[in-house]
Amino acid sequence: IKKPHQEDWSFAGPFGHYDKAQLQRGLKVYAEVCSACHSMNLVPFRTLENLGYSEAQVKTFAANYEVQDGPNAEGEMFTRKALPSDHFVSPFPNAEAAAAANNGAAPPDFSLIAKARGIERGFPTFIFDMFTQYQEGGPDYIHALLNGYEEPPAGVEIAQGTHYNPYFANAAALAMAKPLSDGQVTYDDGSPQTVEQYSRDVAAFLMWAAEPHLEERKRTGFMVLIFLLIFTGLIYLTKKSVYASKE
Ligand code: HEM
Repeated sequence: IKKPHQEDWSFAGPFGHYDKAQLQRGLKVYAEVCSACHSMNLVPFRTLENLGYSEAQVKTFAANYEVQDGPNAEGEMFTRKALPSDHFVSPFPNAEAAAAANNGAAPPDFSLIAKARGIERGFPTFIFDMFTQYQEGGPDYIHALLNGYEEPPAGVEIAQGTHYNPYFANAAALAMAKPLSDGQVTYDDGSPQTVEQYSRDVAAFLMWAAEPHLEERKRTGFMVLIFLLIFTGLIYLTKKSVYASKE
């Protein structure tokens, strides 16, 4: 298993912020390619307004999806066009159907995947993750995985219906075939239409999906640190004044 290469992300570091144009491209890749198999069922369509879309645009976008609703007055379930308040749904009716369509391995939900794949697995490393892991491990992994498909080296046998990828965290091969190829998704902002660019954009988009409030978190954290610095100074001065010797 190879370690993903550490990439440059706009959202890294204490002043990190999302690049909205990149998130919009990532959404396009997700919607046109990944959503054929991967759901994102903790993410409501209305949150796409944070990527810079208007309410009307979000409404039109949501209407591309169908959701199950009901029961109606007759007690029946029915399907209808999705509304902004609905969530990104799975293309499969249930987990069994998802697994059956993919050689027994259900495609994982994408709501939190960028955070879930950002950590080392197992005891005891997960205890220290908070201090030792850089926060962009998940997007790095997704980017590496999507670019990492290759022919299995001589002598390596992989199970039928799986695809060799040295970056996959669980084994040497996974049930997902290489999902992206150059030119597959059309970008209208002139960005390169390459697997390298698609995977970078979709990884950034999945980071946003998993942590939509990252910018606020970093901003608040920074202000808290400044406050603590000033507060420490004040406490020190108070201490000096209260315990000043009275000669
Ligand atoms: C697994 C990304 C498209 C089927 C995964 C994983 C990621 C991922 C990050 C998790 C790997 C892990 O567990 O560490 C993507 C992205 C896509 C995409 C970014 C779009 C660009 C698709 C499509 C299909 C698919 C179109 C179905 C045709 C699967 C399956 C798994 C999987 C079956 C489970 C593999 C296993 O555990 O062996 N994908 N995927 N994916 N994906 Fe995709």
